[in-house]
Amino acid sequence: MKKYVKVADLQSELSELRKDKTIGFVPTMGALHQGHLSLISLCRSMCDVTVASVFVNPTQFNDKADYQRYPRTLEKDEEILENAGCDVIFAPSEEEIYPEKDDRIFNFGELDKVMEGKFRPGHFNGVAQVVSRLFDIVNPDKSFFGQKDFQQVGIIKAMVRQLKLTTEIVVAPVVRERSGLAMSSRNMLLTENQRIEAAKIFQALSYAKEQALKASIDEIRDEATRRINASPELDVEYLEIVDADTLQPVSEWNDSAEIFACTAVHAGKIRLIDNIRLK
Ligand code: PAJ
Repeated sequence: MKKYVKVADLQSELSELRKDKTIGFVPTMGALHQGHLSLISLCRSMCDVTVASVFVNPTQFNDKADYQRYPRTLEKDEEILENAGCDVIFAPSEEEIYPEKDDRIFNFGELDKVMEGKFRPGHFNGVAQVVSRLFDIVNPDKSFFGQKDFQQVGIIKAMVRQLKLTTEIVVAPVVRERSGLAMSSRNMLLTENQRIEAAKIFQALSYAKEQALKASIDEIRDEATRRINASPELDVEYLEIVDADTLQPVSEWNDSAEIFACTAVHAGKIRLIDNIRLK
């Protein structure tokens, strides 16, 4: 595996490879786990060359403490990527990604006004800034994202349409721990008891799925929320049942062809998100 920290060095390597190979790209913020590795293996199965980036992007953190606390384990990440058969790792500094302050403001209409966008103002603008910059640098044929960050996928697809980019967005399913808890770099910040209790998030979402089309949307949303909040370790920030494309809440099962339940939950200072398809 080759490692680059400079944009220019990475680009000269990729321009050679691009002559006769397809380039796949997996952007990450590091602290890698099986969720990330599922993207690497999907990328390897669909592309000749797999490029992964590890960059904790300051512009997408609306909470400074969350940015400072975010786990940084680059040496271990390199080893994990090497073992996973990744070909190229790009681990740039902040100056390399933002030589000048990025003051672009994206317009995602209603997409970033709800859920994560509502509770983390500016978050998706920062995601769009860094991902567009990374796409510009890597110029991948295909790019790989996890369904775990359901709303992020919608934002990235909208950004690709708006900027008329050519990279194809490939989405991979949520990878879970044995308890059902969605894997996340933030899980390593949980206490043992919080981690055990956090399994209730997936249990509540599974309950919602089982009740889908049987009970009313309002009843399911309220009961799933109640089940998570029943744990003294957990506090629901939102639990919404939404249309898969518009991300707007739905009130009837017939309102939409594809419906997801999405939630954000605080376990102490740590914020966890998860989602499940209901219809
Ligand atoms: P990060 O949280 O490191 O996630 C990198 C990619 O891994 C994202 O596409 C995310 O959806 C996916 N992922 C994380 N946990 C997963 C899981 N349990 N199952 C499946 N996929 C999972 O998302 C980001 O970084 C950043 O916002 C980024 C896109 C890199 C921009 O900075």
